[in-house]
Amino acid sequence: MILSGLAVFCFLLLHIGGQAFEILPGDSLNHQEITEKAILNATVQACGALALAEGTNFNVPAQPFTAEGVAAACGASQSLKTFQQAITSITLRNIRVDIRYALNASFHFDQEMFVQGRKIITEGMIAVKASNKMENYEAARQKLGEIMHPLQDFYSHSNWVELGNTLPNSNLIRKDTSIGNIADKSKATCRSCNGDDCTNNILEDIIAGKILTSGYFGIATLVSTKPSGKCSHGGALDQTSKIKPTGGINKDSFKSSHGHLHTQAANLATAATSQLLENIRLAAGNRPFLQMVGISKGSSRALCFVIDTSKSMSDDIAVVKTVTSSIINSHVGTESEPSVYILVPFNDPGFGPLIQTSDATLFKDVVNHLTATGGGDIEEMSLSGVQLALASAPFNSEIFLFTDAPAKDKQLKNTVIALIERTQTVVNFMVTDSVVTNRRKRSNNNQPQTRAISESDAQLYKDLAQASGGQAIEVTKDELPVATTIIAQATSSSVVTLLQASRSPGQTDSFTFLVDETVTNLRVYITGRSLTFTLTSPTGATQQSADSTGSLITSSKTVGNFITLQLQKQVGQWKLQMVSNNPYTLKVIGQSAVDFLFHFVEPSEGPFGGFDALDTRPRAGVKGRLLVSITGSDSATVTEVALVKSSKGSEEIMGVVVPQDNGNYLVQVDVMPAVEFVVRVKGRVQGSSNDFQRQSPTNFRASNLTLSANSGTIMIPGTLFSVPFTVASGGPDQNVTIRATNSKGFDTTSPTLLFLQSGNSTNGTVTLSAPLSTPSGSDVVLTIEAEALDGTDFNYIVLRLSIVNPVNVESSCTKNCSLSIWLMLVLCLFSTRISVSTRVSQSFLLCLSIVALGQLILK
Ligand SMILES: *[C@@H]1O[C@H](CO)[C@@H](O)[C@H](O)[C@H]1NC(C)=O
Ligand SMILES: *[C@@H]1O[C@H](CO)[C@@H](O)[C@H](O)[C@H]1NC(C)=O
Ligand SMILES: *[C@@H]1O[C@H](CO)[C@@H](O)[C@H](O)[C@H]1NC(C)=O
Ligand SMILES: *[C@@H]1O[C@H](CO)[C@@H](O)[C@H](O)[C@H]1NC(C)=O
Ligand SMILES: *[C@@H]1O[C@H](CO)[C@@H](O)[C@H](O)[C@H]1NC(C)=O
Ligand SMILES: *[C@@H]1O[C@H](CO)[C@@H](O)[C@H](O)[C@H]1NC(C)=O
Ligand SMILES: *[C@@H]1O[C@H](CO)[C@@H](O)[C@H](O)[C@H]1NC(C)=O
Repeated sequence: MILSGLAVFCFLLLHIGGQAFEILPGDSLNHQEITEKAILNATVQACGALALAEGTNFNVPAQPFTAEGVAAACGASQSLKTFQQAITSITLRNIRVDIRYALNASFHFDQEMFVQGRKIITEGMIAVKASNKMENYEAARQKLGEIMHPLQDFYSHSNWVELGNTLPNSNLIRKDTSIGNIADKSKATCRSCNGDDCTNNILEDIIAGKILTSGYFGIATLVSTKPSGKCSHGGALDQTSKIKPTGGINKDSFKSSHGHLHTQAANLATAATSQLLENIRLAAGNRPFLQMVGISKGSSRALCFVIDTSKSMSDDIAVVKTVTSSIINSHVGTESEPSVYILVPFNDPGFGPLIQTSDATLFKDVVNHLTATGGGDIEEMSLSGVQLALASAPFNSEIFLFTDAPAKDKQLKNTVIALIERTQTVVNFMVTDSVVTNRRKRSNNNQPQTRAISESDAQLYKDLAQASGGQAIEVTKDELPVATTIIAQATSSSVVTLLQASRSPGQTDSFTFLVDETVTNLRVYITGRSLTFTLTSPTGATQQSADSTGSLITSSKTVGNFITLQLQKQVGQWKLQMVSNNPYTLKVIGQSAVDFLFHFVEPSEGPFGGFDALDTRPRAGVKGRLLVSITGSDSATVTEVALVKSSKGSEEIMGVVVPQDNGNYLVQVDVMPAVEFVVRVKGRVQGSSNDFQRQSPTNFRASNLTLSANSGTIMIPGTLFSVPFTVASGGPDQNVTIRATNSKGFDTTSPTLLFLQSGNSTNGTVTLSAPLSTPSGSDVVLTIEAEALDGTDFNYIVLRLSIVNPVNVESSCTKNCSLSIWLMLVLCLFSTRISVSTRVSQSFLLCLSIVALGQLILK
């Protein structure tokens, strides 16, 4: 239940009809608008406070605040996409409460559940603060969205407004204070009323005595839960409002029983949400708070390395050191500085610890202390390293993995694909001395090769790169420095993908892409061997791959299997004709503020309808839905959304685009394809004469299997945590393989095989436990996979859980403990545990040296 007439998000308007249609768009306020308003307000406060502390200027942006205006005022226009993404992430979790906990009164402050509702808020606040301290901002956002919901509902569902209060009840965000004078269970609070008479249905002695009450709510079967004399929520769905005392008191919208107080309730809900955010900000500090809402200095992009540290890697590690130094030296303090730096070393049997910091100097030193040692046999734990990085990197990041060895942990392939799809992260593989490069190298000099990656081992990396829209670059160690120019380009701000495609097996095909006025730095990346291409510009000018004198390609480099082209800027439709019998990938990127965000969503089966963002693959062969929004321009409109099949011919499935309030678009396709596809969005920025085109780098798939899980999100160290899940398939009876993995190597149990009966679903339970020593604020990403026995189809659900220790979390930790050293120590000890549990490895040594180094730096 929600403010704004049961209109869960704006789409519900499409869904339940009747009552909701009466609300004019932009009239009543809903959870989404309240949340956005409060985040914009809190962000302005944070940027103002930061400017004051740093002695810089801050001009409050014009009212009403917009994401674009606020990001600009914060001097962080580069962060606009991540800012909007953070707001969306928080908002979707807020809305999910109405879907997942529709009938749990505590989440809505119904039924006088004041103590229980506050408990949800205050316990959630502890988790949010702990997550922020550990820089686990996504976990913080998700929990924050979840607790904002009851906080906002309080003002609509209780009689706080009717009692004459004009300020938020700040005791809802405090733990050990009195919420107020709550009505006894036996105390009558309302008299019957009907429709318009309902303005004064709360009993006079309740009002005069400043006694808090809230409405009961129940759909048909729960009618009997309302004790005599108690108020109801009210509205068509609420069956309790039909028994005495009839009528209701909610202020969800102007049309509600107490709709005349909707504006006051919504404004108080906004103010209370602002207050909650301020409390979170004061605990986190301004910079970390801003990171949580997606605002960072610099480019808003992460620099993220996953590095094989086994013996033969010393050349590669030297290159990584050079690249890191060069990016950091040339970009620190500029708009191109990465917002966060992540490093995951791996070899065999160890991987990690993950180092994550926004301190460039610290990161440079950590990288400079990397050494190549050990790594017994040929294969290394590369996918475990990627999994760890994917679990921590911000969404839409780009990861660079360096290795010269095959993966030992190939069984993690589907897990890595699941994480790629869920985070829309690009993974690039820099593979040195693979078989192909070896062959060439051997023919150049007779140097014996001790390690080599076979074609099939390399294919695993290619598959993962392709799924994510990244490159699998195969070069010799000598050629590597040239290939790494891609890294600086990926970390520069506002990188957008105009086109991404691949063909395997290779074939002649032609690809088109639109370039709009906002795009600069137009580049093409191609991987493949023995290929030629012809480029045609919007004016009809052409240039062949072999032609070095043409003017369309302003610079071109080929190294190993990797070709990079810089194109002249010409607005309009370009064409790229590829000719090759070998597999190839191609990607066209540029820099532009204008981009898009999207989530697959599906209609809720709950009483309020609404749409929930999927943590799984969407269902194949049935209607599919996406929630799309444009970032970087308040005036842009979406003109077309298509799912483009990744296979030959690039067949397009057009979506029906329905604009919603607040700049979102609900896109429906009749049949979700059974094969891989990318999402392509076209649109128009107001005043521009050309459409823009953007594409997801990620290749997505739909599945015939469905998975759902409904667990809490907070784990207590040392306590078994259960995740009940349900699997079903649309097809005939079958068995599916189940696998549960997590990013932290926590002990996990799960069924390995489940029988799915046609037309029925099957339940299972995954359990995991975090070791007692796990610090509060850590998070773990749990992936549950269900795979058809023939391996042709799989689905997954990806859950992010926070670890909060109720005992030590309250110990006051001031600024000193949030220093990176503390974080590193904790991460080190933690991940050393993982390695030690298998065998003592270099992780431990690396860990110790990093801690020692950190201590030195911080002294
Ligand atoms: C409602 O949610 C709270 C908090 O998660 C939980 O403790 C309680 O058991 C739930 N109540 C019902 C009826 O499910
Ligand atoms: C904005 O935030 C400040 C500080 O938390 C608060 O006092 C003010 O009420 C907020 N404004 C709105 C409109 O919520
Ligand atoms: C789902 O089942 C249909 C019909 O049996 C089949 O054609 C399709 O390939 C399957 N999809 C996937 C993703 O396996
Ligand atoms: C599923 O597995 C069980 C046990 O291994 C087997 O008895 C059954 O025949 C299998 N069912 C199908 C449809 O494959
Ligand atoms: C679905 O599965 C459950 C549990 O195995 C079983 O009790 C139930 O009878 C099944 N339903 C149908 C329609 O077969
Ligand atoms: C499976 O789990 C769901 C949701 O937790 C529950 O409603 C259903 O009864 C369970 N089914 C079986 C067969 O246990
Ligand atoms: C942090 O530690 C330093 C030295 O250990 C101390 O002087 C300082 O007061 C501490 N700061 C805080 C905020 O605790």
